[in-house]
Order: sequence, then C-alpha cells, then structure tokens
Amino acid sequence: MDILLSAANAALLLAHGIRRDAEVGLLLLGPPGPPRLVRLVGFRLRSYQPDIRANAALIRRALVEPSRIERESTPGVFSSIVTFGEALDRLGPPFVSLREGGKDIRTADLPADATFVLSDNQEFPPEETRLLSERGALVIGLGPLSLHTEHAIAIVHNELDRRGA
Ligand SMILES: C[S@@+](CC[C@H](N)C(=O)[O-])C[C@H]1O[C@@H](n2cnc3c(N)ncnc32)[C@H](O)[C@@H]1O
Repeated sequence: MDILLSAANAALLLAHGIRRDAEVGLLLLGPPGPPRLVRLVGFRLRSYQPDIRANAALIRRALVEPSRIERESTPGVFSSIVTFGEALDRLGPPFVSLREGGKDIRTADLPADATFVLSDNQEFPPEETRLLSERGALVIGLGPLSLHTEHAIAIVHNELDRRGA
C-alpha cells in the first residue's frame, strides 16, 4: 500500500496543487477480496493531500462495500471489483506499458491521453503482459536502471510536461 500511495502522489500532486487532468488506477490484488480497482480522478478530488496515512484512510473507505458496480466513496475516489483486463478497459486506450528495456522515452512518440501501466515491486506476470500486448500497448523504457514506481511516474510526467509546454 505504501508503494501504491507513493505512486499515486507522484501521479497526482504538484508542489502547490493537484494535476486535475491526471487519473490514477490502483489495482489491488492482495487479500482480502481481490481484485479491487480504486480510481483517483484528479479533477474531482477534494481532500487529497501528500499525507500517505490520510490517503490510506480514503482507500480504506473505498474498499468497505465490495461491488462490481463502481461507486464513489469520497469525491474523486471510485472503487469496484474488476480484473486486470477489465481495469485496462475502464481506464481506456491508448496504453503505454513502462518496462525496463522498452523503447527509450526520449525518442519515442507518445500517444495523447494515454494510460501508463506500471507494476509495483514485481515484474508483470505473463498473463498481464499478454493482456497489454493484445490491447496494442507500446513498451517504453526510462533508462538503464530499475526505478521505484513513483520515480518512474515522475519522469513520465516531466517528459509529458516538457512536450506539452
Ligand atoms: C521497482 S520496478 C519493478 C520491476 C523490477 N524489475 C523488479 O524486479 O522488482 C516498478 C515499475 O516501475 C517501472 N519502471 C522501473 N524502472 C523502469 C525503467 N527503467 N523503464 C521503464 N519502466 C520502469 C516499471 O513499470 C516497473 O514495473
């Protein structure tokens, strides 16, 4: 949960605000009751702070009533029971799979409004790799070293910020 919430902060927070155009999907595959998707939607979030413990409370509240039908537990925080493939389809194409050894982000064309897919502290299992490649995901790399998920997200944001500027 620490890894996921640090990644969510990297995806959503600026020094003095929230990236209103960013959305985070956290797919929770551990017990109890997996798989659960929690979406944090930047433009709807009201009480989102850098404080990991406060954000853990938002996630805990989102997980209270498991349902296949997505519900908003607090403004901007949505949850539902969905598999990895269903989560991809909810977040929507085009997909960019971030992976060591992928095409260098510095020279790659990046699609607009992409869903960037990262793993946690483990590699993507073969089934998830298959679901990504079935959906035409580009495989993009960020350099020669294995980075923490949150740092990988910061690099992607920086690249997109510079291209958009
Ligand atoms: C800590 S890494 C996990 C994979 C790691 N190789 C391991 O053995 O545990 C977390 C995630 O950040 C992204 N990532 C980390 N370094 C990367 C790099 N150099 N290029 C692209 N993505 C990277 C990938 O999505 C990766 O799954």
